[in-house]
Amino acid sequence: TCHGINELYASGPLQDMTFSVSEGTIGIHVIYQFTIEPPAVSLRLSGEKDGVIEIASTSGYLYLNGSLDRENKAIHRLQVEALNVTGQKEKGPYSITINVQDINDNPPKFEKSKYFGVVWQNSRPGSNIGTLRATDMDQENTLNSRLQFRIVDQNPKIPLDNLFIIQQEAGTFQLSRSSLNKRVVSNYFVRVEVTDKVFTTLCDVKINVIDINDQIPIFEKSDYGILIILEDTPVGEVILEIQATDADEPFTGSSQIIYQIEEGDQNKNFIIETDTKTNRGFVKINKVLDFEMSSTYNLTVKATNPEPLVQGVQYNSSSTAYFGVVVVDVNEVPVFSQNIYIGNIFEDVPVGTLVMTVTANDPEGDQIRYSLKSNNRNWLRIDTFSGEIYTAAPLDREVEHEYKVEVTATEENTKSQSSTAVFMLYIKDVNDNPPRLAKGNHLFFCHPLHGGVRAEIQATDDDEQLYSPEFTFSLGGGENIKSDWEISRIDGTHAYLSPKHTNLEEKQYSIPLIINDNGKPPLEGNLDLQGLVVGGVFLKMKNKKRKELKKNAVESAELKSLR
Ligand SMILES: *[C@@H]1O[C@H](CO)[C@@H](O)[C@H](O)[C@H]1NC(C)=O
Ligand SMILES: *[C@@H]1O[C@H](CO)[C@@H](O)[C@H](O)[C@H]1NC(C)=O
Ligand SMILES: *[C@@H]1O[C@H](CO)[C@@H](O)[C@H](O)[C@H]1NC(C)=O
Repeated sequence: TCHGINELYASGPLQDMTFSVSEGTIGIHVIYQFTIEPPAVSLRLSGEKDGVIEIASTSGYLYLNGSLDRENKAIHRLQVEALNVTGQKEKGPYSITINVQDINDNPPKFEKSKYFGVVWQNSRPGSNIGTLRATDMDQENTLNSRLQFRIVDQNPKIPLDNLFIIQQEAGTFQLSRSSLNKRVVSNYFVRVEVTDKVFTTLCDVKINVIDINDQIPIFEKSDYGILIILEDTPVGEVILEIQATDADEPFTGSSQIIYQIEEGDQNKNFIIETDTKTNRGFVKINKVLDFEMSSTYNLTVKATNPEPLVQGVQYNSSSTAYFGVVVVDVNEVPVFSQNIYIGNIFEDVPVGTLVMTVTANDPEGDQIRYSLKSNNRNWLRIDTFSGEIYTAAPLDREVEHEYKVEVTATEENTKSQSSTAVFMLYIKDVNDNPPRLAKGNHLFFCHPLHGGVRAEIQATDDDEQLYSPEFTFSLGGGENIKSDWEISRIDGTHAYLSPKHTNLEEKQYSIPLIINDNGKPPLEGNLDLQGLVVGGVFLKMKNKKRKELKKNAVESAELKSLR
């Protein structure tokens, strides 16, 4: 019943068995024939048949209908049973193992489809560039999977063919000759094949030849001469352009140039920046020059590469250039030790008190003369030679508590060279103002008087009020005043004035009022209240004594500060 069965095979009774068959068979391939012993009449096969392994149930042929693939499944495990006429198991199961034997049916494969390598142009023959790897799915450690590499083509063949070799077994890609020259050929395309003797696979390898730093920067000239530079040339200004060239591969660390001032610039007054496109160097001012500190510079500039030079090559004097700088003095204005000076002083200091000393220096060492500007109240004066500032008049915090003037320093020999600083004087309070009335200057009582009428008065004082003021009110004058009028405290700043009885005449009254403050020392205000009768009692405060009181207070404070 089986067509095309023409191969050698064995036969025997049912038992556990192991067979080896080759992968890749075509059509029907008989492996074995089991003999069927009565009462069994047929066989049944189960297990990993994979649609290929079959058994002819009544004749007992174990066969393949198609091909097995070792790379897919190398071992197949099956069971066979003998059945009787009713389909019941008679014997078994017996195990059948089929080992699939490898044939070379897989081509080698490179791990990557393209390889890239780099090689320094001065590399020695035998230098490794890289390793190519390939695999083959056929059975390991057999000839079917043994791979060999070979270079089949090199492009361009300049200056020679066979510049590279590949280790036949290991795939190590190497340089075979040292005749690379980046400037002639910078890229090689090499075709490599790998074979398992049956199949062959190709791949491309691109080799990039890279330059080495074997060229030093060479200055266009070694002496850039002497530059005359003004002392006040601003930081960042380019004072000189320099140029060196390097024949190594452009835009690499082998050809980029770093310019450094090697000698003559201890103070780092100069800096050199390189244009990375052109390798041009720009010498700039890094710190403001100072003629008084250093007036000439002898500068040595060295040009180097960021990459180290290849062995055997060294920088020489062609990588060094010189230039000189002569600094021209610029007469600079005097410089104050501070831009703003701040002083504090009590308002009651005597005229002529030293408040502060300001000083300025001229970089060229010229003598300085001092003067004041914006001294609007003429409260201060300055010593022309020493810069000492004194009070020139009595100060009054109540007039101005932040007195601002400008101090000018002028060079004695060059009047146009001057500079200005601010002097701010904070004037501190002393109790030098007597209390005065803030409210209650005009008091009016209707005539005829009724019991209980009163008028509110309020006191204030021009001194600095750090805490809530506490004034005390009392009446001056003789007994007749006190018998007619009465003052009563409301709080520290307010009081009532009221008539003591209702039979006061319709006329103007003059009532002396004394207000004391709680300053140190306390001051007293003696105020004269006056009234005019116009259908009522009209009281008017006159403040004629205030100025005089204030003058007395200043004098007493002066006396105090002298003590
Ligand atoms: C072999 O397989 C083919 C297709 O799967 C089938 O038609 C044919 O009958 C099989 N032959 C045998 C002898 O099993
Ligand atoms: C600068 O160098 C030149 C030449 O080397 C020398 O003649 C000159 O005296 C030097 N100047 C200073 C200031 O060192
Ligand atoms: C410095 O070396 C270069 C080659 O690297 C050479 O061309 C040049 O002449 C040398 N310069 C001097 C001053 O020796």
